[in-house]
Amino acid sequence: MTDDPLAAIESGLAEVGVEYRSRFAAASTEQALRVERAEILGKKGTLTGVLKVMGRVPASERPRVGERINAVRGEVDAAFEARLAELRVEARRAELAAPPYDLSLPGRAPSGRGHRHPVLTVRDEILDIFRSLGFAVAWGPEVELEQNNFTKLAFPPDHPAVDMQDTFWVRVVGSPESARTLLRTHTSNVQVREMSTNQPPLAVVSGGSVYRRDDDVTHSPMFHQIEGFLVGEAVSFAELKGCLTEFVHRLYGERNVRFRPSYFPFVEPGAEVDVACVFCDDGAGGGRSSCRVCKATGWLEILGCGMVHPKVLELCGIDSERFTGFAFGMGIERVAMLRYGIPDIRLLFENDPRFLAQF
Ligand code: PHE
Repeated sequence: MTDDPLAAIESGLAEVGVEYRSRFAAASTEQALRVERAEILGKKGTLTGVLKVMGRVPASERPRVGERINAVRGEVDAAFEARLAELRVEARRAELAAPPYDLSLPGRAPSGRGHRHPVLTVRDEILDIFRSLGFAVAWGPEVELEQNNFTKLAFPPDHPAVDMQDTFWVRVVGSPESARTLLRTHTSNVQVREMSTNQPPLAVVSGGSVYRRDDDVTHSPMFHQIEGFLVGEAVSFAELKGCLTEFVHRLYGERNVRFRPSYFPFVEPGAEVDVACVFCDDGAGGGRSSCRVCKATGWLEILGCGMVHPKVLELCGIDSERFTGFAFGMGIERVAMLRYGIPDIRLLFENDPRFLAQF
């Protein structure tokens, strides 16, 4: 390099100009091309060397010289991109021209065909029964605002009932403090959403995953529910009983059904529904005393229900003077466990093929 910085830069740029064309053209793989580029533009590259001389260029010349260097740099980059595109086309062409897969290799036989999970089978069966009774099917989100899961269902704030459902709270980055978010603890959020956006008459059923902090042989932190409601003019407890009794008969056969008073914050009155034990009740009470499933009571609790609380109707924008309705909810796993005699709910979620293959 000469002592004259301008001359040094000129000769450096001339060198780069000669170099890059031939070097890029000679590179026959993407990797080789990238190595060439690094040798020109990289930390120790030729062009970078030229740039270092800039410090010695008189200030008045710098803008002009800088522009020259940038122009060369741009040329090199463009040439690199063009060659890269060319190499990719070549590589793809070679791939397509190569001999195809070896079709003579023996295939890998699929190891048995899968099928629906028993929980989904039971879910669809239940939804179908309600569909045939005239209910529409709706879906809702699993990550929900507190408002749709609790508040509009008339759960008083900080009421122990909120603890009763062992909620998983979700922190949503950037959302306001007031928009408290959770994993829905029941499918009743769909009821709230439907009633808040539609006016009666409404008959809607929904199903899906729900979450509670609970984990033992009969409780899983994630499980499935079906929830439904019917709101209209002059809907009474008689309609609730008639509709749910028909449902239970279609699902379990013509067995005895009983309604037992119970409490849920969003219904009044509330009830739990029991069906005569499918394992021990033959109608004559025989075998009952030793039945472990119904604990010798002869009854299995299968769903919760009640008349929608007028407060809930009002919170959802429905005139509670004019309309009344009933709602119900049930766990799908429980139905599946009773149906198939499954002793531990966790079996349903371990996804062991040896277990699932039995359905
Ligand atoms: N949402 C209630 C629960 O998960 C079930 C229910 C729904 C009860 C509708 C009554 C009416 O426990």
